Amino acid sequence: MLLTNIKSLLQVRPQNVERVLGLEMNDLPTLDNAWLLIDNGQIVDFGPMDICPDDAEIIDCTGKYVLPTFADPHTHLVFAKPREEEFVMRIEGLGYEEIAARGGGILNSAKKLQETSEEQLFNDALARLKKVMKTGTGAIEIKSGYGLSVDAELKMLRVIKRLKAVSSIPIKANFLGAHAFPTEFKENHQGYIDLIISQMLPKIAEENLADYIDVFCERGYYNPEETAQILEAGVRYGLKPKIHVNQFSLSGGVQIGVKLNALSVDHLEVIGEEEIEALKGSSTIPILLPSCSFFLSIPYGPARDLMNANLPLALATDYNPGSTPSGNLAFVLSLACVKLRMTPNEAINAMTINAAAAMEVSDEVGSITKGKQANLIITKPMPSIAYWPYAFGEGNQLIDQVLIAGEVV
Ligand code: NIG
Ligand code: FE
Repeated sequence: MLLTNIKSLLQVRPQNVERVLGLEMNDLPTLDNAWLLIDNGQIVDFGPMDICPDDAEIIDCTGKYVLPTFADPHTHLVFAKPREEEFVMRIEGLGYEEIAARGGGILNSAKKLQETSEEQLFNDALARLKKVMKTGTGAIEIKSGYGLSVDAELKMLRVIKRLKAVSSIPIKANFLGAHAFPTEFKENHQGYIDLIISQMLPKIAEENLADYIDVFCERGYYNPEETAQILEAGVRYGLKPKIHVNQFSLSGGVQIGVKLNALSVDHLEVIGEEEIEALKGSSTIPILLPSCSFFLSIPYGPARDLMNANLPLALATDYNPGSTPSGNLAFVLSLACVKLRMTPNEAINAMTINAAAAMEVSDEVGSITKGKQANLIITKPMPSIAYWPYAFGEGNQLIDQVLIAGEVV
């Protein structure tokens, strides 16, 4: 398959890069008036139109931009039911943490998930996955964490394993057994942590059910000591930490993540100088989740400070039924520009190559590089690439086609 007359091919990296650091993120390499050749699901070549090959099935891209699909390195895509009743409670004045303290929030989702069959969870998650692929998601990380019992956590992770098996995009599984304390362990935190360490982790390793380990390190959830204990156990089973930190408060979780060589520290709505200092010189990637800030009306993470510190900032949706009922990365693109004050170039770097790095797939996807999977977004004709985030609310309609391994989704 040959894409021709591409107005501009974006994120062109003839020499693959693994991640792009803060100050370089404003540089988005492009090739104007270009063609791109796909064979066997891979990008095999690209170049300027004046030396275009002509021996393949052609998609004419006149006026359109072509870029790598986005990666979404932080989602909770597997869940049983939406929670719009809590959304209404928040409108009426209750806070996210207050609702959780009354048995809503994560515990509400866990109760529903425990009652739902693996088959049902799989079918619903697959439908969500297909939907987000149509809107430009070409790699995704998916967490457990709505099980909160041995059986239900394993059930969630088996669903993710089945999604990996049937899906043509890279998927990574993150074990988030420590998402909340189940009610019966409210006064016995160590009892639940022991369950995670002695019963869940061995089974997960035995069935090869996870790539990463996550903890919700936050006041009212897991404190720094509990977080470190769980992550260290995960590391012993070969799971790299990739964690929730500093959503509502300064927890010390960033420093723990850095110390344990976390792949990423995610949320960071509340973050100080010390956290940024800790991240400098580490290989840990900061991930911001602006659609969560939007939906909960909480502060946005300090994208500019993170980039000024020369860190490889990445963005994700946080798709989940409580804090972010949206897997739409085109909306994240607009929020990145409007609320995080990122330039369109910076945002696209954060959502393609850096997002891929934040789930360890930047050698497979995330840039226009020969040999990478042909996971591509073809936009509608647009006056400039800045028009895309500018036309907020219309982001999806500005996607003409998504190709995954060279096949139209
Ligand atoms: O990333 N913060 C913790 N976990 C999710 C929300 C979970 C929920 O409300 O169901 C998040 O925002
Ligand atoms: Fe999350």
